[in-house]
Amino acid sequence: MTINQEFIDQFVNVTSKAALASYHLVGKKDKVASDKAAVDSMRNELNKLNINGKIVIGEGELDEAPMLYIGEKVGTAKGPEIDIAVDPLEGTNFAANNLPGALSVIAISEKNNLFNAPETYMEKISAKVKEKGIVDLDYSVKKNIFNLSEYLNKKPENITACVMDRPRHKNIINNLNKLGVRIKLISDGDVSGALLVTEDKHNVDIFLGIGGGPEGVLASAAIDTYECFFQGRFLFNTEKDKLRATKMGITNFTKKYNLSDIVKGDSIFCATGITSGDLVSGINIENYEFISETLVTHKSSGIKKIIKKVVNRS
Ligand code: FBP
Repeated sequence: MTINQEFIDQFVNVTSKAALASYHLVGKKDKVASDKAAVDSMRNELNKLNINGKIVIGEGELDEAPMLYIGEKVGTAKGPEIDIAVDPLEGTNFAANNLPGALSVIAISEKNNLFNAPETYMEKISAKVKEKGIVDLDYSVKKNIFNLSEYLNKKPENITACVMDRPRHKNIINNLNKLGVRIKLISDGDVSGALLVTEDKHNVDIFLGIGGGPEGVLASAAIDTYECFFQGRFLFNTEKDKLRATKMGITNFTKKYNLSDIVKGDSIFCATGITSGDLVSGINIENYEFISETLVTHKSSGIKKIIKKVVNRS
């Protein structure tokens, strides 16, 4: 097994350090600086690991991202070949404005097992459902809610749907509202939004809407360890988007991607809080030490837990 448990601590350390680096810039109204701090730290830490890592989802392509660009090799090259998806700062608005929910996120799989997502929007749906066919991107909001209502044995008015607050979601929100569904509107951060269906404590049954494609892949890596459903469909609005997708090997522009298309085999997912949010607490100071909280999942061992650790500044 390549992605064994010993990697968990190492990757928790990577996201914890990136979270701490970004934390120092929280509330400084500077999205770029807080993102850069997380990116620099993450790259530095990844390069210390005994892995043959390749960034498959990163900060963009080489010409637009000098660090953690798609295709960049990371690690000492002395270990296993792994694919790495990163979002060193998920929720740049949250960090810049000291709002809840900023995270530092990473997902890893064995080589060629993580979908190489283009930087376009993705229609997404996640739900507290094990089987396929209960909810689907091709169903109407009404059909999804009625099916879910029957499956969970809950009336529609007792279902909670998480949606990002965007004008493009007006129809979804209006339809949910007509059905009496309780809506949890989030202003940003749909990695976390999609993951809220995974545990009862979050009290969210379904997540719907359009967000970043890379964020969809990251969320999938975690959802794959839970018995939950995720489906995504990329939206290629321009010819440039389509050309880029073609170069990445995508030929069917309207394909619906299920979990098994996005993450294959084993995987590890780590999301460390920068500011406290629904999933994890942000960086905390206790007894003059910085403490991080990280949500970790590991597919093959079934690990899904929150790890608290002291983050050393070095
Ligand atoms: P950033 O951290 O890059 O700012 O992304 C935040 C985010 O809310 C993502 O979680 C989400 O997928 C995306 O932005 C949505 O994009 P948009 O703001 O264009 O609707």
